[in-house]
Amino acid sequence: MEDHIRFDSSRHVLDLLDQRLLPAREKRFLCSTTADVITAIKTMVVRGAPAIGVSAAFGCALAVREAAAENRQDWQAGLDRKLGQLAASRPTAVNLAWAVDRQRSVWESAQDADPERLYNLFVSKALEMQAEDIASCKAIGKASLELVHQGDCILTHCNAGALATAGYGTALAVVRAAWEAGLRISVIADETRPLLQGARLTCWELHKEGIPVTLACDNSCACLMSKGKVQLVVVGADRIAANGDTANKIGTMGVALLARHFSIPFYVAAPVSTIDPALKNGAGIPIEQRSASEVTSVLDRQIAPRGVPAYNFAFDVTPAEYITAIITDQGLLRPPFDRAIARLDFNR
Ligand code: MRU
Repeated sequence: MEDHIRFDSSRHVLDLLDQRLLPAREKRFLCSTTADVITAIKTMVVRGAPAIGVSAAFGCALAVREAAAENRQDWQAGLDRKLGQLAASRPTAVNLAWAVDRQRSVWESAQDADPERLYNLFVSKALEMQAEDIASCKAIGKASLELVHQGDCILTHCNAGALATAGYGTALAVVRAAWEAGLRISVIADETRPLLQGARLTCWELHKEGIPVTLACDNSCACLMSKGKVQLVVVGADRIAANGDTANKIGTMGVALLARHFSIPFYVAAPVSTIDPALKNGAGIPIEQRSASEVTSVLDRQIAPRGVPAYNFAFDVTPAEYITAIITDQGLLRPPFDRAIARLDFNR
């Protein structure tokens, strides 16, 4: 599935599959302004670290046209402000700021470009990032093949699938590559409260492709592991620090601790663009806190007495010591991760 993020450059519209409505409805959300793209990212019409990066890259193209329409004389100041707003629309996934920074580099190397030319350059770069992301996901799948065996059951948390990337997925690249290689594997998808990305999105993607998937509530992980139902865990990542500490969907750290207890390998699958070499360790990763209403209600139905507060940290940080390996588009990284990460090529 590679068409959930489309850009129509003649109509100047970013056309997104609205992930909030899945699996019940497949409806598109059209963005014709920078503000629409920011809303789509904040409200999670589009979500998942690489997917929001690619969407923001297209958002930069919309921002140029808008800035020029608002003030033809001083469009650069308007553009600079809009790019800043896009980059700040969600804080944890580093891919978002990384994608906007790549567009800023395009701008820097074309300083004399008028808005029309810069628009075309931004669209081309965003299309390039989209294609690169799919290629990275496939490379992750390939690098993971030696880790998966016939009959294995893979537990995953949240959705790090095609929907969370430009296509093919990261954690689900591991699943897809094994399946395409003929291994009869299966998946346990944690439901992933509060927004149910596992139940709604991971199950939707895998079920559509005929890959066996069983849904489990988040709190059944220890029980399933104790019964021998899980051979390996694979999750995605929103930001990986230079020492391997990994931010991913809330609940991931608990799964990692349980995997260690039951001696089950715990893998993180992510492109190198998700690694933030500027951060020494996970303590510096900004963790998004979302509205309490996402926790006090389920699918718009209130489940807690009104007035009760709720924690809603959207991500947690799994310490590197609990990670068996990080599967990247540049191959498998094994501990010590600081050394393995230092050897990566961040300028590819
Ligand atoms: O809040 P979300 O749904 O954007 O969180 C997504 C995740 O935590 C994913 O696991 C992560 O972005 C990796 S996606 C390839």
